[in-house]
Amino acid sequence: MTFPKGFLWGGATAANQVEGAWQEGGKGESIPDHMVAGSRTSHRVMTPTIDVDKYYPNHDGIDFYHRYKEDIAMFAEMGFKVFRMSIAWSRIFPKGDEMTPNEEGLRFYDEVFDECAKHGIEPLVTISHFELPYHLAEEYDGFLDRRTIDFYVRYATTLFTRYKDKVNYWLTFNEINFGTLPLGGTMLLGILNDSANEEKRYQALHNMFVASAKAVEAGHKINPDFKIGCMLAYITMYPATAKPEDVLACRELNQKLNWFCGDVQVKGKYPYFMEEYFKKKNIQIERSAEDLATIKRGVVDYYTFSYYMSSCTSAAEYSDGETVGGNLFGGLKNPYLETSEWGWQIDPVGLRYTLNELYDRYEVPLMIVENGLGAVDVIDETNQIHDEYRIDYIRRHIIEMDKAIEDGVDLIGYTPWGCIDLVSGGTGEMSKRYGFIYVDKDDKGNGTFDRLKKDSFEWYKQVIASNGQTCLETE
Ligand code: BG6
Repeated sequence: MTFPKGFLWGGATAANQVEGAWQEGGKGESIPDHMVAGSRTSHRVMTPTIDVDKYYPNHDGIDFYHRYKEDIAMFAEMGFKVFRMSIAWSRIFPKGDEMTPNEEGLRFYDEVFDECAKHGIEPLVTISHFELPYHLAEEYDGFLDRRTIDFYVRYATTLFTRYKDKVNYWLTFNEINFGTLPLGGTMLLGILNDSANEEKRYQALHNMFVASAKAVEAGHKINPDFKIGCMLAYITMYPATAKPEDVLACRELNQKLNWFCGDVQVKGKYPYFMEEYFKKKNIQIERSAEDLATIKRGVVDYYTFSYYMSSCTSAAEYSDGETVGGNLFGGLKNPYLETSEWGWQIDPVGLRYTLNELYDRYEVPLMIVENGLGAVDVIDETNQIHDEYRIDYIRRHIIEMDKAIEDGVDLIGYTPWGCIDLVSGGTGEMSKRYGFIYVDKDDKGNGTFDRLKKDSFEWYKQVIASNGQTCLETE
């Protein structure tokens, strides 16, 4: 038995992808409220105003807002110890720059946390999961404007104060390293004008680091027992060949994509390679001495990440070789790996490799807060969903987690993504399903929204009940 006693088994969601009720309870508009659905091969598009002729899948989500009791009861039935969820910033501060919060929004999360407590489930709360109030993007270009630091800190402090006796585990921003990529310019950082501009993105990211560090400090003052973490999308990269130039190119990509943000948030300082990168690209960022001191003080207590896949890179920028898709970032095909229906390469062993890399680099507790297989599910004539492909994916990853723990990695929890089917973050589809629980809604928003247990539901229940043992026995 390798998984430690008290290991945090559970599942993960984000407010904008599940809640729906986009105009209820005094909620304001958020960035995802402005995003129409894409498709299996195309990303989502944002519209400046809400077009009545278009379908915005986050507007109804999976109606968690009205069904949270039923959903949390099902999580409890699976034996969840922890439930990763996020708070919709625009429920608490509808426009983002108000001085006082929206009481109705606060009350909703009180009720959600009380429901979790009733079932003995520990909430793990992402303060901002790509959910910036739209007004902050429109008026301030999101985190490009330093005033957004203060708006965020006010929001985070409001949450810490209100829920100090209900929530212990917090994450400041979801997948903060998304900001290093052009697509993250709007979705994460909230920049509407010229969002792909690298200098602007690094400036906004810097402001986000300061906001995160200030929140960590404020949170620890409010409740010294709080565990406040960072969250990154870890995009595991291998060199396409053993050619030293490819190995070097892979390292350089890792530095910018995977290590930069973690280094700032865990080590409390900008890494040397980014300083050199900024010089080389003539990127000027305003970083005061006070900012740097804040970042140093506001380091996180633990490191969390999403892990879905891996891919390869080479020195000759993808000039030769087949490419594959991926979570936020694709790469070159790895001939040794199979891909999901959405073209993401499945790599359980890469998780063990990644866990060891991360623990070596940061030496803080680690948690995998997203992992899973997006797949099309079919309901058979007896109303069942035999998702053995999902079971297989998760089982193989759990086996590698077990090996990483044996390697000595301090892994404290695992919350597979979309434990209940939800709106895809990348494409807005419903047909890309991750859940143990099926939700009857299609890509156009049609359906009863009824919940149905998949085969993986019972399977994951046994995994949790045996603290991972049933997985290891089937190896
Ligand atoms: C992560 C995000 O990038 O990947 C989630 O934190 C997202 O919000 C998840 O849903 C899976 O990606 P997708 O595009 O399959 O929904």
